[in-house]
Amino acid sequence: MKKKLTLFTISALVLSSNAGTDNFNNDVLEAKQLSKIDAQSLSSVPAKKIVLYPQYSVRLNDKNANEIVEKEQPVEAEIAVGYNQKEIGILIRWKDETKSVQPALATNKYGDGVAVEFPTVYGKGKTLAYVGMGDANHPVMVYLKKAVEGKEYKKSFISEGFGTMTEIQEKGYNFTMQYDDSKKEWTAVIVKPLKTPDLNLASGMVPVAFAVYDGDSLNRDGNKRISSWKFIKIDKFKADPSYVKYISWGYGEIGDPARGKELMVQNGCNGCHRYADQNTAPEGLAPNLSKIGGYSNPVYLKESIINPNDVVIRNLNPNRHYNKSAEKDKIGAYPNNDMYTWYIKDNKGKLQSKMPPYAHLSEKDIADIVAYLKTLK
Ligand code: HEC
Repeated sequence: MKKKLTLFTISALVLSSNAGTDNFNNDVLEAKQLSKIDAQSLSSVPAKKIVLYPQYSVRLNDKNANEIVEKEQPVEAEIAVGYNQKEIGILIRWKDETKSVQPALATNKYGDGVAVEFPTVYGKGKTLAYVGMGDANHPVMVYLKKAVEGKEYKKSFISEGFGTMTEIQEKGYNFTMQYDDSKKEWTAVIVKPLKTPDLNLASGMVPVAFAVYDGDSLNRDGNKRISSWKFIKIDKFKADPSYVKYISWGYGEIGDPARGKELMVQNGCNGCHRYADQNTAPEGLAPNLSKIGGYSNPVYLKESIINPNDVVIRNLNPNRHYNKSAEKDKIGAYPNNDMYTWYIKDNKGKLQSKMPPYAHLSEKDIADIVAYLKTLK
């Protein structure tokens, strides 16, 4: 009797210490094999809780919306995944106190919405994409569903970063969202083919990310709450062990966050980036890192530091900065100030990050910096 109790206590402790901490298993979504895939069968699959964090590294040209997003809280969602020979289905359920539906005629009201994103290239030897909207080296497929009055609004597109979206007419996929008034929650269900010409999800470990838009908070475009990359584990297919090793780097306690914070000042990161109490860099010069730990996987953070050219974030520069010392153009506007574009184009048209690589830092220094960045959420 006594022994049993002790065992129980230990496992309860282990469980509670893992809950909510950053543990790679928390980011793995186990897909269940189902004969039929629909909202009902997906509801029977054990769901996993994930957290979506406000993203404002890319700012809208809307002061109100930007102010709201800064004060927004993270939102929790439950995810369940199922698959069969041909299809994959994902159920996404999240709380939203107020149902917002975009009116049929354009106004400044926005509907609630949800997006599911997959990289089109992933697996052995492939690095992780920019979770925000993909990048030139890592296009992503985005499925977007919005609550719009009187019409079914669902879209799929390939994106290589903000402002590069190409709409894809994918056949045979379904995306629904339904609001439960009593529970005050949305349930969205996407069911799509495992394989299409643009996206092959028949793999043992498939990166996926989620975003939700809150219409009341003027969320749209880059203003939303997003998750980091999660990984769908499909037992029917074999996951490449080297890929699993790569994506699981850096979870748990990997270094000293306090030292990482000091290293960031010593290395001048705060000269370009704003984060926590560091706000001397001009707004918009580089992505704001205040919430970076919420939606970035540790290995992505590591690579951002040592190899900024692998993922180059395109900013649309929506918070326009003008060069007022230049001449006005024909319609009387000043040209953009290039200082606020995050990349330059080399002579082959390839994007080069303006961030210098920090590959010279020791492994310990990088681990400490990543440990600190993970705390920013
Ligand atoms: C000269 C300005 C500059 C400096 C100094 C700089 N960065 Fe950056 N950083 C950028 C720019 C511009 C980008 C966006 C373009 C890109 O993707 O590389 C960026 C991107 C990033 C990202 C990805 C952000 C995201 O939203 O996904 C991280 C993380 C990052 N930097 C961390 C650091 C750290 C840590 C340091 C210091 C060791 C540092 N940066 C120093 C300019 C800078």
